Amino acid sequence: MSRIHVSTTINGDETEFLCEAQETLLDVLRDDLDLTGSKEGCASGDCGACSVTVDGRLVCSCLMLAAEAEGRAIETIEGMADGDDLHPLQQKFLEMGALQCGICTPGVLVAAKNLLERNPDPTEEQVRYWLAGNLCRCTGYDKIIRAVMETAKDMRGAA
Ligand code: FES
Ligand code: FES
Repeated sequence: MSRIHVSTTINGDETEFLCEAQETLLDVLRDDLDLTGSKEGCASGDCGACSVTVDGRLVCSCLMLAAEAEGRAIETIEGMADGDDLHPLQQKFLEMGALQCGICTPGVLVAAKNLLERNPDPTEEQVRYWLAGNLCRCTGYDKIIRAVMETAKDMRGAA
């Protein structure tokens, strides 16, 4: 079977790859492009560990075919920090211990960043609702929610 040539943008870099028709974006990110920050928790769209954004929209990369990345702008957890400068969410998660094993963390951070770009002043309920698709088996969620709320407050103060 011939492979599909895909031209896309990943974290601002123009990127080309070849993939099989049935390969997911998550598989190509992890196995071919060495972007292993996105995790595979379930491979069925239930856990959110594989979250990326596609043209600014939050997507489970395990549910998207790699070929569908053609012409899109993909953002992964690897694009979140600015060089050595962590994104405020990443910094706050570290300061507040909002992670344990870390498997869910890349997806949670990508999703939380996407929320704050849409809504810089979310209520706790809105944060919990937005992150409902990101499962965490370790933290009990409270530290995650508090870290997102605190980051939002800091970012509003800095704006
Ligand atoms: Fe994609 Fe769980 S690995 S939602
Ligand atoms: Fe372990 Fe969330 S920190 S799954």
